[in-house]
Amino acid sequence: MPSLRDIIIERIRREGPITFRDFMEMALYYPGLGYYASQRLPLGREGDFYTSPHLHPAFGAMIARVLMEMWSNMERPEEFYVVEMGGGAGHLCRDIFDYLSTQNTGKGIEQKDAFLSTLRYVIVELNPYIAERQKALLEGYRDRIRWVKHINEITPGIEGCIFSNELLDSFPVHIVVMEDRLREIYIDVKNDRFLEIKQEVNEDNLMKYFRQFSIQLPPDYRTEINLEIRGWLEEMAMILKRGFLFTIDYGYTSDEYYDEERSRGTLLCYYRHRISKDPYEHIGEQDITAHVNFSSLHLWGRELGFRTIGYCPQGIFLVASGIDEIIIELYGDSPDYPFIVTGLKGLILPQGMGETHRVMIQSKGVERPRLRGFSITNHVNRL
Ligand SMILES: C[S@@+](CC[C@H](N)C(=O)[O-])C[C@H]1O[C@@H](n2cnc3c(N)ncnc32)[C@H](O)[C@@H]1O
Repeated sequence: MPSLRDIIIERIRREGPITFRDFMEMALYYPGLGYYASQRLPLGREGDFYTSPHLHPAFGAMIARVLMEMWSNMERPEEFYVVEMGGGAGHLCRDIFDYLSTQNTGKGIEQKDAFLSTLRYVIVELNPYIAERQKALLEGYRDRIRWVKHINEITPGIEGCIFSNELLDSFPVHIVVMEDRLREIYIDVKNDRFLEIKQEVNEDNLMKYFRQFSIQLPPDYRTEINLEIRGWLEEMAMILKRGFLFTIDYGYTSDEYYDEERSRGTLLCYYRHRISKDPYEHIGEQDITAHVNFSSLHLWGRELGFRTIGYCPQGIFLVASGIDEIIIELYGDSPDYPFIVTGLKGLILPQGMGETHRVMIQSKGVERPRLRGFSITNHVNRL
């Protein structure tokens, strides 16, 4: 069986140079061999990187509390859908259900029960091997969760929340370089090796993106553009009749993203917990990511009927939402309390995921939504 590397080389020999976007799409999603399409589990100790749900169960508990807040904001609909896009190892879903099923204090029990009875949890997982692992981990909650491969398997018109953590940074991106005019990076093959070449920009939407976000790049500046987010938002807008789009990811506002300081872009690769900038090695075995331009989510979302209600760093969002209360509620009596609190650092502090990861929540058809998470900082006006 040919390797993914050979398959990409063969395509380039047949069709000529391909855009970096097409290369990245094959490297991550080629059926059976792409990084997110193979049997290998990318996350956790045996994988290549950790995500917030792996750092501490309080993350999932906190998300559960925010979902309950959203449900209250919507005046408790009878069916509240939570659609988790790309469920990873399943930790987030497990921690949400564990929290909602834990009744170790008198306070809030009724609220949790009422919420659980309306909750319709759907995991959208395109990788069947990963879906099987999730099902094994979530054995105890299996009859409460529905798995689908694609969001379009859900009947449009749902009320609730579509959640994603580190989803959008794994969408394939275009790479452009500013020379006398804007050029796009294509991938060619020479002596059996991948070679980057620069070609004219062929995609109208790339030029439109520059105009829409008023981006001006100095000479030699190299960066990424994620156009897939637009199509993704269209799908979300089709499915969600009323509720929230809750997105957490590495990212910046457009001004920060395309700032002079960031002249080499944000593309990174993860292989066995090591970071590199070379997407042409370990093809199909390493993750390739690019930060998210949250201004695009905001602006394109607005065109599709979403209103951004808040945007801020993850650490601030978790503290403002009351993660301390969760810790006391869940672990207040535990002799391990100091260790448990120490374990939270990675979620909150700037050296961990507290600053690199940003939270954005957009609403649709919800009157005057209010969420505690944005009560300290809310940077909507900077987007
Ligand atoms: C970096 S992982 C994050 C997993 C998980 N959310 C977490 O935080 O641990 C990205 C996930 O997004 C999934 N993914 C990528 N594109 C997707 C799409 N269009 N629909 C659903 N999942 C997708 C990948 O298969 C992968 O599981």
